[in-house]
Amino acid sequence: MGEHIDTLLKVSRVIDPPADLRAHAYIQDYDTAYRQSIADPEKFWDSIARELEWFSPWRQVLEWNYPWAKWFVGATCNIAYNCLDRHVKSWRKNKVAIIWVGEQGEERFFTYAELFRQVNQCANALKALGLRQGDRVTIYLPKIPEQIIAMLACARLGLIHSVVYSGFSAPALRSRIQDAEARLIITADVGYDRGKVIPLKPVVDEAIVQCPTIEKTVVVRREHPGMALSAPNEIDWTDWLADQSAHCDPVPVDAETPLYILYTSGTTGKPKGVVHVHGGYMVGTYITTKYVFDLKDEDVYFCVADPGWVTGHSYIVYGPLLNGATILTAEGKPDYPNPGRWWNLIARYGVSIFYTTPTAIRLLMKYGEDWPRRYDLSSLRILGSVGEPINPEAWEWFHRVTGGTHPIMDTWWQTETGMIMVTPLPCVPLKPGSATKPFLGVEADVVDREGHSVGTGGGFAVIKKPWPAMMRTIYKDPDRYLTYWNTIPNCYTAGDICHKDQDGYFWFMGRADDVVKVAGNRIGTAEVESALVSHEAVVEAAVIGKPHKTAGEMIKAFVILAQGYQESPELLNDLKAHVLKQLGKIAVPQEIEVVTALPKTRSGKIMRRVLKAKELGQDPGDISTLEE
Ligand code: WTA
Repeated sequence: MGEHIDTLLKVSRVIDPPADLRAHAYIQDYDTAYRQSIADPEKFWDSIARELEWFSPWRQVLEWNYPWAKWFVGATCNIAYNCLDRHVKSWRKNKVAIIWVGEQGEERFFTYAELFRQVNQCANALKALGLRQGDRVTIYLPKIPEQIIAMLACARLGLIHSVVYSGFSAPALRSRIQDAEARLIITADVGYDRGKVIPLKPVVDEAIVQCPTIEKTVVVRREHPGMALSAPNEIDWTDWLADQSAHCDPVPVDAETPLYILYTSGTTGKPKGVVHVHGGYMVGTYITTKYVFDLKDEDVYFCVADPGWVTGHSYIVYGPLLNGATILTAEGKPDYPNPGRWWNLIARYGVSIFYTTPTAIRLLMKYGEDWPRRYDLSSLRILGSVGEPINPEAWEWFHRVTGGTHPIMDTWWQTETGMIMVTPLPCVPLKPGSATKPFLGVEADVVDREGHSVGTGGGFAVIKKPWPAMMRTIYKDPDRYLTYWNTIPNCYTAGDICHKDQDGYFWFMGRADDVVKVAGNRIGTAEVESALVSHEAVVEAAVIGKPHKTAGEMIKAFVILAQGYQESPELLNDLKAHVLKQLGKIAVPQEIEVVTALPKTRSGKIMRRVLKAKELGQDPGDISTLEE
């Protein structure tokens, strides 16, 4: 990995931002703006927060009791109010907020006024079920506008939403509902995937059998005729909203009130519920969307994420709506019904900002340049990438086929950080493959294990000061929150390996822990291992990430079989089907190898690092703790 990065640094070219873009950008001189922001971060964040509306002001910008932060102390606000009411009161009332395109080619438009109306109706419907501030609502929906409406309606009332990606299977959904102790689940009859119908409601039915806290299930029915629902516990979405008034006062909440829980993978088998709050998260997502993408009222902003993941929360829903943007969101895969899908949407809706992922770019690369060339992409002006390191080949391809001049914002951040942390701004010279420099007000660095800055060189990515959109805790597990702050002294440890070059540019190189990034999705090796050992044929399992041409990484599992089981193609397929059933498609190992022993430390911990080095033909490094 080290050698690879060295060659990268040598070959990399520096690309200056287009002069006209820079001349009209919010931030035209990064170095000065960064220096000022970091000289007094609280002053910087205070001034940004004033661009939004608060019901009552803060006494103090930050209260910092390492590692517990409170931002905008004493203030009251509501993020949904800032996403909607603020615009509905202005000329933006009839501006298009959301353009939604379904997998079957359906098209729906929501102006700010229309979105406001439906969110209010949904909020009243939630109230009618007796839900109160602080209650949790699980949202298990495909990528349809109701997902966004439900999130905003919860926020409006101070309910906590927990969006679960609709590709997760019943056991994975169940554990997330149980941890959150949700009272309500909102789902759909089906989702669509490459033209195939994917039933969702049956997954919910299976999941909630063991979820006593769930009182009702609301179902968005997409198929005709609609599936039968059993009253009174199953409610049709349309009926649910039908008689509700389009007026619902927003609940002013304390700035530190939880907005959502989003479950993400870590180093143990149990997913962690990352908690974000109204006030600080609102300020962080608002300003990063505005400055990183130089978002203006004339823009059409297209982010390909799913609100089931954090990118969807921060950069489809909250950040862009806080800015009063016109957002394009599309259900489905980039190559269905053909590989021109996204290029076609860009041409058709005049997209000017296009935020996508390295894995999607690599997929589209496979289909060749003819596809993008067929469409008029002249509306584009700024591009973005997120989720994993973007390799320079993919970077160059993306840059070239979109016109050869638009800067690519390679944004590095995490579910836990809530907002983009290391990223170019449109005025920053780019190096393909580097996320460049920290965002304003963010003190990011690369350090050794003791927390000493490496200056130039490789080490661990850390954040040295609190930032407003940081997670506040891990739901019901504060000890797990502490691990982020006590791994390396006086820093938030991101878990990423990073290299800083002589110009201070950050080159993120992947995870330092047992997290695999498959097509940008974060999967804990421990989760896949525990799914495997829950199969009767497996006594022990170890999972590693292995480089993969399009997905970035793929999952490889090593398993030890129980007595009486023989390796066979049927058995291996059965194991894959088992993981599919336990966790969902994204977690299924592409390769499974049967072994008779696994490398372990003397204390019995599996050394995945050694397995990985062996698999990739690399030097395993220090193996002094290896048992045999
Ligand atoms: C990785 C996604 C390199 C990183 C927003 C991080 C990246 C993890 C980048 C968080 C990037 C995200 N360059 N690596 N631009 N963006 N990562 O929580 O390893 O799903 O720790 O959040 O993705 O994944 P998560």
